[in-house]
Amino acid sequence: MSRFARIAGTGGYLPDRVRTNDDIAAQVDTSDEWIVERTGIRSRRIAGPDESASSMAEIASRQAIEAAGIAPDDIDLIIVATSSPDRVFPSTACLLQQRLNVRNCCPAFDVQAACSGFIFAFSIADQYIRSGNARRVLVVGSELNSRLVDWTDRATCILFGDGAGAVLLEASDEPGVLSTHINSDGQYRDLLYLPNASVSLDDEKRFIQMQGNEVFKVAVNTLGKIVDDTLAANHLNQSEIDWLVPHQANIRIIMATAKKLKMPMERVVCTIETQGNTSSASVPLALNEAIRDGRIQRGQTVLMEAFGSGFAWGSALIRY
Ligand code: COA
Repeated sequence: MSRFARIAGTGGYLPDRVRTNDDIAAQVDTSDEWIVERTGIRSRRIAGPDESASSMAEIASRQAIEAAGIAPDDIDLIIVATSSPDRVFPSTACLLQQRLNVRNCCPAFDVQAACSGFIFAFSIADQYIRSGNARRVLVVGSELNSRLVDWTDRATCILFGDGAGAVLLEASDEPGVLSTHINSDGQYRDLLYLPNASVSLDDEKRFIQMQGNEVFKVAVNTLGKIVDDTLAANHLNQSEIDWLVPHQANIRIIMATAKKLKMPMERVVCTIETQGNTSSASVPLALNEAIRDGRIQRGQTVLMEAFGSGFAWGSALIRY
């Protein structure tokens, strides 16, 4: 009998502190109007000094575990997608394992694929479950972007926010995850990157570096293509997708993908207005929100997608 991976529970966490566009405009030469028009973002959440990728991941994960009705020790594998780990090593996944008091010595590791990290981690989890090597996998995206951006650089600081989202995937006889597609192209390495602290750096190079308009163009084209590939691989047409859960980088990128799918924006889960780009946390945060508020119902077909530094991009099609 085939095994599939099915979503058994989800969770999400956003820090309390809100930073509005006006707050940013008080520090750098920008305006609420410019940011809203170009990005769709009005505010974002900022983690407090005592928070970290692992502390936010813990809160989101506890919700997902509770929703799935399992105990932490039932988990066979923990994968955390993050580009803002508490420590370079051990992995944030190991720190999360300790925080959740998972004592069964299951493997725990991080995946680093920038904003596409959650989709990459989700794809790995799906492979583990399909192959019979794991029954329950905790997949988390957690990011503390506010400590990676230069708050004096108006080209980047307007975009990012902090948060964590989690999904508990479980083996099932029924789908579940229908397909995942992941891709990378390192040729684009210099358009969006974060220098590593292990390389000696001058101060301005400690933060996210981005050529926004170049990233924008490639993102729109690439996401259009992966949506086509995903539909073709599953012999589906656009009208059979109930919900689009996109990475939240820019409302104009999201609208271009929705247009490609001929989907009205009411069928697209958007959190960007109040969360900004939470990198690998954005897809699981949006998924969790739409499941918890009842928009996404069991049996519906949901397309998740993401694009980010690398470039790395991917999709996951699920029957919820
Ligand atoms: N406020 C006001 N003006 C700003 C600004 C800001 N925050 N940031 C840039 N500008 C200015 C630029 O200096 C430029 O001015 P100039 O014409 O005098 O040189 C002008 O606005 C246009 O800049 P440009 O970068 O072409 O704007 P844009 O329409 O491409 O919008 C982004 C910029 C960053 C919002 C947009 O490119 C974007 O969202 N890109 C994708 C980024 C992304 O998704 N990254 C993460 C991927 S996971």
